[in-house]
Amino acid sequence: MPTSIKSVLQETRVFQPANAFVEQANISGMAAYQALCSEAAQNYEEYWARLAREHIVWHKPFNTVLDESRAPFYEWFADGELNVSYNCLDKHLATQPEKTALIFEADDSQVIKISYRELHARVCQFANALKSRNIQKGDRVVIYMPMSIEVVIAMQACARIGAIHSVVFGGFSSRSLNERIENAQACAVITADAQFRGGKMMPLKPAVDEALSMGGCDAVHSVIVYKRAGNDVQWNAKHDLWWHDLIDGLPCTCEPEWVGAEHPLFILYTSGSTGKPKGVQHSSGGYLLGTMVSMQWVFDYKPTDIFWCTADVGWVTGHSYVAYGPLAMGATQVIFEGVPTWPDAGRFWKMIQDHQVTTFYTAPTAIRSLIKLGGELPKQYNLSSLRLLGSVGEPINPDAWMWYYTVVGQSRCPIVDTWWQTETGCHMIAPLPGAMATKPGSCTLPLPGIMAAIVNEAGDEVHDQHGGFLVIKRSFPSQIRTIWGNDERYRKGYFPEEMKGAYLAGDSAHRDEDGYFWILGRIDDVLKVSGHRLGTMEIESALASNSLVAEAAVVGKPHEIKGEAIVVFVVLKGSRPKDAATAKQISEILREWVSKELGPIAKPDEIRFGDNLPKTRSGKIMRRLLRALAKGEEITQDISTLENPAILEQLKHVIQ
Ligand code: PRX
Repeated sequence: MPTSIKSVLQETRVFQPANAFVEQANISGMAAYQALCSEAAQNYEEYWARLAREHIVWHKPFNTVLDESRAPFYEWFADGELNVSYNCLDKHLATQPEKTALIFEADDSQVIKISYRELHARVCQFANALKSRNIQKGDRVVIYMPMSIEVVIAMQACARIGAIHSVVFGGFSSRSLNERIENAQACAVITADAQFRGGKMMPLKPAVDEALSMGGCDAVHSVIVYKRAGNDVQWNAKHDLWWHDLIDGLPCTCEPEWVGAEHPLFILYTSGSTGKPKGVQHSSGGYLLGTMVSMQWVFDYKPTDIFWCTADVGWVTGHSYVAYGPLAMGATQVIFEGVPTWPDAGRFWKMIQDHQVTTFYTAPTAIRSLIKLGGELPKQYNLSSLRLLGSVGEPINPDAWMWYYTVVGQSRCPIVDTWWQTETGCHMIAPLPGAMATKPGSCTLPLPGIMAAIVNEAGDEVHDQHGGFLVIKRSFPSQIRTIWGNDERYRKGYFPEEMKGAYLAGDSAHRDEDGYFWILGRIDDVLKVSGHRLGTMEIESALASNSLVAEAAVVGKPHEIKGEAIVVFVVLKGSRPKDAATAKQISEILREWVSKELGPIAKPDEIRFGDNLPKTRSGKIMRRLLRALAKGEEITQDISTLENPAILEQLKHVIQ
């Protein structure tokens, strides 16, 4: 951990929400926000219990609220029973069966709309299909699919029967898929023949075939394939089944499996400080509550909204604000298969216009690339349906914020910059848009009941705008329950002793004079590349498995669009390339290697070669020096502990 964290950002602009917005807001004005905060402070458990009773339909009501006896293995509403899919679908059948649940826009612009009634029927039918394969409560099901109505059906159907899904982003490689199937000991994989993105067909099924052939996946007895593209696929009669064949003739009703509130709803793998991704395990009751209150408070959800979160369901944002939160609220939402830049950089704006989107939630990296490709393009579309904009996944730089605010939101729509994590399940620090003023680049204040704070290495709270580690002092309902199969990694990683029982988020932050939070970045070896979370160790171990590589170290450097770029320092087993052509050739081999091992999102941006890496006398790689080199900074740090100072000169240069 760094010993001192300084903030260099000076941003003084403040934007008050318009009166018209405040008047209609679910949480209207700061007093309303503060009233909720005091309610939580006065009786924490009763506060969450009230919200849980109001938002969730319980099959069996809970009596205990928070059980801290096995901390940090917290339990919420543990003796209550519910079904998440019931809360997302059945609940709406009596009141709004014909309301559109999903507006799916395919890569080629074809639009399919589906009502709550139809979605319920299709989820039930697919749930019956899973049951026909003997998939039961507690079984793990890996989902590796494109953005589609079917992926939502697959997730909801798992929830309906109490199976635990683990969605793997379609951009991950077969090796990553294999690791996740093996770690979760999944018994089934749901996939598609291919996906379409940017006018191109990209096969998915071959990656599943390859993943299963890599070993460790013996528990998989069913591979269910949704026919999206109609491309030729290899067929393994032992376990491959077409989605459409499997559901054929099955009933469209399916009694939900009632589960305890602590029953795991899903596992989602994410990167940490080690070479192996960790399976973040979420609960049913607490998680659902988190997604619902944040829809209500942060997205100021109204039944007339057309909600669009652009995240893929492979990430937590696509779980909480595509597959669960909006459906639990009974919203109409847009789901998009394609990419924002195809057929041109006006795609998002055209879709907002066509579908009359009111609430638009995307990532800073998308905003920055759209500014670059067509900063004036939003003006060609009618964006007057928009009333609220959101940002997620990484810090949004004030310039991008201002463009989003003035050009997309036409200075009318508040921006909710939402800080949260795979582990937190829902927004933690974010504006309640009808209550608080926003400042470009700040995620503002914690949600009522979220006890966020900034502490020093000793776990003591810091004040007066000093930077430090972001922690959450008390357990909250939507928090991670454990790392799948690794309680110890969960306890050590998130609740280290020096944090005195607080949840350590892994980010550094500071608060300004108004108490607003400003996120400074990660404190561990985790990069945020285009908003995707990647562990430097994962990339390093992928590189180390290449026969050319003796040793590799990975660091991040700032990137105008992606937020961070991946820079790799490599020592080859053979000699260091001396000319540009050889360096280029080997770089390409290694970039492709990482892409194949982990997925294209992890492809290094830059590779530098040295005879060695800067190390201390005890052999530890001095990453802070590598970070400075990657950024092209002069080395001003103390290098007295460095074993081999001459190496710095060599690594300074990119051979071109
Ligand atoms: O570093 C923070 C950054 O993303 C990390 C969490 O990544 P992940 O689990 O992939 O979840 C992303 C979607 C919630 C955090 O530790 N981060 C996320 N949102 C913000 C952010 N950094 C600054 N501002 C944000 N709004």
